[in-house]
Amino acid sequence: MTTSTWFDTSIENALLAHLSPEDEQAYFVYNLDALKAHLAKLQQQDVIKLWFAVKANPLSKIIQTLDSEGFNFDVASTGELNQVLAQGIDSSRVLNTGPAKTKKQLAAFVKKGVNTFVVESLNQLNWLNEVVLEQQTVSGNLNAPQVLLRVQLQWDEGEKNPLGGNSLTPFGLSVAEWQSVHVDDYPALNLCGLHIFQWGNMLSNEKMFSLWSQMVAPLTELANSIGMSLEVLDLGGGLGIDYLGEGNTLAWSKIIEDLAVIKAEAGVKELWLELGRFAVAECGYYVVPVVDRKVNYGQEQLVLAAGINHIIRPAITDQPFPVRILRPDFDEQNTLMENFDLHGPLCTSMDKLGHLPLPSDVEVGEQLVFGYTGAYGFTESMPFFLCHELAAEYVFQAGKLIEVRAAKPASSYLA
Ligand SMILES: Cc1ncc(COP(=O)(O)O)c(C=O)c1O
Repeated sequence: MTTSTWFDTSIENALLAHLSPEDEQAYFVYNLDALKAHLAKLQQQDVIKLWFAVKANPLSKIIQTLDSEGFNFDVASTGELNQVLAQGIDSSRVLNTGPAKTKKQLAAFVKKGVNTFVVESLNQLNWLNEVVLEQQTVSGNLNAPQVLLRVQLQWDEGEKNPLGGNSLTPFGLSVAEWQSVHVDDYPALNLCGLHIFQWGNMLSNEKMFSLWSQMVAPLTELANSIGMSLEVLDLGGGLGIDYLGEGNTLAWSKIIEDLAVIKAEAGVKELWLELGRFAVAECGYYVVPVVDRKVNYGQEQLVLAAGINHIIRPAITDQPFPVRILRPDFDEQNTLMENFDLHGPLCTSMDKLGHLPLPSDVEVGEQLVFGYTGAYGFTESMPFFLCHELAAEYVFQAGKLIEVRAAKPASSYLA
């Protein structure tokens, strides 16, 4: 991958200006101006209603930027809901997904004014109905929440299987399970849509369209059979980022074109996506110092100040984030590069951020920058193991690097 596809001079200059030889701490940076411009492009269409999957990056400044570009918010926990509300966002712009909703949580969300739910089990459906009826008894008028049923499809063995495997997950229910309900049995709810999302980091427009196309028939049949007038189809997230630099990227204009077809075929009034990585991954950078360099059994190894305690994604997906050295006047084309194993400080071989090219003369004390870390970075990691520091988070806006959250020592979380 050429660094130019994920790095730019303005952020490089800001990080270089921030460089200090004494700095032994790793940190995240999010380029808010670039994020805003990217989000504005995503909104230049009238086919899809866009939500932001807060799990990808719940930092206040990130949520505020998405808010400023008209995104609504998909939250999967009380913590995410509170963080969204704390940014002054109205609860009517919040959607609640996730397989672990309790009746108590549903009641608290309804009380806070959340009015859109993706339900993932028969219990969730019944509890939500009960909660609304109970709150109507107490407070009178309450709008029936919009409810989408989350569907999990499988294809019979031997048949063409667009999902590439029939692994069972707790996300939603099969068509057969949902067929046991009827919309008329839930008068307190506005059961108006279906949700499906069973793919990840999709990088081909053709594959994505083929998958979406094959879902329309089973979904519309399910809606008919349970008496649902299908008004909303939510196709989740899963639009991919080219972490490996293989040159496969999704064209947003083609997605809009394809989804206009899906929307018409499904006959829905609204088509929704909850974007995570596709919205925020490319605005983020992770900067980490090199603390040791050695050759081990002939392999060049770098040990970094932090690893999967700050960014775990490479270990759980086997896909490294792209890396570059932070060095004044670095010229990638005219530098001798070689592949290094990049390890973090934890006592597990899982703590590896990749086997990636860096200048062969990289030294202890220099800093590395990883790209595409705006999504599934800081909050997806395992920060407490071995009592290292929590990473700081900065934003880059109007040419300035601003600290939003300082690094925290282990004493801040140890009891
Ligand atoms: C329900 C739901 N919607 C959207 C997303 C966002 O996915 P992505 O980051 O791939 O866009 C997720 C991620 O796990 C999810 O669980």
